[in-house]
Amino acid sequence: MAIRTRRALLFMPGDDRKKIEKGATLGVDSVIMDLEDGVALNRKAEARAVTAAALREINFGATERLVRINPVMDDPAVWFHDIQETIESHPDGYVLPKVDHAEQIQRVAVHLTRAERQYGWMEGSIRLLAILETALGIVNMKDIADADPRLSALIFGAEDLAGDIGAIRTPDGWEVFYARSKLVIFAKAKGLQAIDTPFIDLGTDDSMLRAETEQALYMGFTGKLAIHPKQVPVIQSVFTPTSDQIARAKALIAAYNDHQAHGEGVFAYEGRMVDMPMVKSAEAILARARAAGIDV
Ligand code: COA
Ligand code: MG
Repeated sequence: MAIRTRRALLFMPGDDRKKIEKGATLGVDSVIMDLEDGVALNRKAEARAVTAAALREINFGATERLVRINPVMDDPAVWFHDIQETIESHPDGYVLPKVDHAEQIQRVAVHLTRAERQYGWMEGSIRLLAILETALGIVNMKDIADADPRLSALIFGAEDLAGDIGAIRTPDGWEVFYARSKLVIFAKAKGLQAIDTPFIDLGTDDSMLRAETEQALYMGFTGKLAIHPKQVPVIQSVFTPTSDQIARAKALIAAYNDHQAHGEGVFAYEGRMVDMPMVKSAEAILARARAAGIDV
């Protein structure tokens, strides 16, 4: 199955039809209709109904349609209804919050397989994305990353994690840096996408969001959650290589191939040593460009 590009994933409350309609027009890679913390407790049933109808009625174009359910717990009263009342409307995937154990993902996967068989959809086609935002989830990350073939991405949730471990959020984010960095390593070890926590300060200009998104890119993240339409172009542009970066990557690869042909594995290029790791980085830039739909 082709891997979907997920540079920006825009959240919206699942009970807010107006925002969902707007989300469908923004050219964002993914929208996440939320049934969890973005919805008041007394609006959960309404949110399921609005989300299910939106999935059926709104044309999202190329945008991926994801639904965030409530945490998977022994008591299936909430999360199970989230799935049961939206699955028939055929979302592209579900986002699972507060994942502590691999079994939570496996429990959801069983229901998805059953639905795919029932409706004649391709088995395994409904994707799962897991948010790691608890101390236990960070500790169990290795098993969670390996939980199920449907799992496409690990998502880092800084605010919930800070609450869970008793950390206080600061602009630099060092209080959650270990978990944020660990998530990239464990996702990449299993071939999963790594998606960064949202930038929640809506009062600032773009520069702080851009800086935090660039830091995520440099760390190896493949995308970032968004909570407002104005964040989408900033995030998607940071995760899309510029034409200059693409040209430089191509030139470096060409120089490498040229030196290989002359029996040289390492050489100096524009004043810097180049060997295989730099070539891999250059290839990763081209891969990101292709994923963003750029012809390279
Ligand atoms: N998705 C789609 N549209 C959104 C949106 C979102 N996440 N956030 C805002 N909009 C729309 C508004 O409806 C408004 O549309 P309009 O101009 O057509 O009327 C426009 O964008 C400007 O919105 P603005 O007035 O700046 O924001 P707000 O005060 O209405 O909403 C939030 C602020 C934070 C409540 C809102 O951005 C939001 O709901 N974000 C997502 C929250 C969420 O899902 N959290 C859970 C996961 S962390
Ligand atoms: Mg959360």
